[in-house]
Amino acid sequence: MVENEILLKSLRGEKIERFPVWLMRQAGRYMSEYRRLRAKAGDFLDFCKNVELAVEASLLPLKLLDVDAIIIFSDILVPLEAIGVKVRFLEGEGPKLDWDGELGSLKDYDPEENGYVYEIIRQVKKAQSKVPVIGFAGAPFTLSSYMIEGASSREFRRTKLFMWERERHFFNLMETLTEVIFEYLSHQIEAGADVVQIFDSWTNYLSYGDYEYYVYPFIDELINRLKSNYDTPVIYFFKGSSSFFDLAASTSADALSVDWSVELSQACLRTDKALQGNLEPSVLYAAEEVIRHKTLQLLRSVPRSSRYVFNLGHGLAPDMEFDKVKLLVDTVKSFKL
Ligand code: CP3
Repeated sequence: MVENEILLKSLRGEKIERFPVWLMRQAGRYMSEYRRLRAKAGDFLDFCKNVELAVEASLLPLKLLDVDAIIIFSDILVPLEAIGVKVRFLEGEGPKLDWDGELGSLKDYDPEENGYVYEIIRQVKKAQSKVPVIGFAGAPFTLSSYMIEGASSREFRRTKLFMWERERHFFNLMETLTEVIFEYLSHQIEAGADVVQIFDSWTNYLSYGDYEYYVYPFIDELINRLKSNYDTPVIYFFKGSSSFFDLAASTSADALSVDWSVELSQACLRTDKALQGNLEPSVLYAAEEVIRHKTLQLLRSVPRSSRYVFNLGHGLAPDMEFDKVKLLVDTVKSFKL
């Protein structure tokens, strides 16, 4: 039980007095307190594995922004380490991964290798009972793209060629990742995660046909498996939301987290699912009155009876200003239904 159940209520379609708000990447470098913890931890992956510091980082957005949910501080790439992919974060360059492209060189997944993640969830639950805790994982496609590209990418050319030219192999990889993520999220739920979110951050680079054929069957299977084992709400975040909306809406996810390619008021009419999103993150670089105006405009466009959770269409960036992020959260919380 948590004191502030507004997120869970909105996801379930119960009556609420205002829309709930949390932000993707809400614990990050835009916060000086985060930068202080990060400096203490050293390397980013060491930070993710340092339970005490990761718990502190997870709690920062509740303390400083008073958001309606805590997403645990971690990264989507940590389960890949557990299957034998070498993962490094180089300062200013983002993630680097080493994998030879062969399934045979991957290890069987032992979910206990990510035991520190479940411990972070247990300790965040213990440290506060104010808001629900969101666990998360990368979606099979987004994780496969990091393994294949070996780094962040602008084109995803290697991933596409792998997918098209080595189709059987790609499907085997997606199957393996689906199993890994199912196990990983199951352990997070059993450790106390109240909600889980699956991040499909790079699907916007795919054509409709490729998403439908190569990506959808696995995300559908993953969410079905989660929903047939647990009541825990599942949020599916996917980029390229306007193209793939109806496919995503046909999964058994409880909520779809959509980017700004979707017109939210229309999306509300196209599904019974809860929706999350979708303010364009760049709005946070604008002047205060623009932030307030754009945020209220979005909130007013959502039909009052919708199951809706305010969020951005993607994550916060390191160079955003804390005070503007705070203004955004306060603006959402001031909007009464
Ligand atoms: O949302 C949250 O506050 C929870 C923590 C969280 C992080 N990463 C922390 C993080 C979550 C949910 C993620 C997910 C994640 N990681 C995604 C999916 C979400 C999205 O934004 O699309 C992706 C694609 C990754 C992979 C990843 N990790 C990238 C591309 C980067 C940026 C590299 C860089 O140098 O900025 C990271 C690092 C990362 N993950 C940071 C944080 C706070 C920054 C690391 C730092 O402190 O320098």
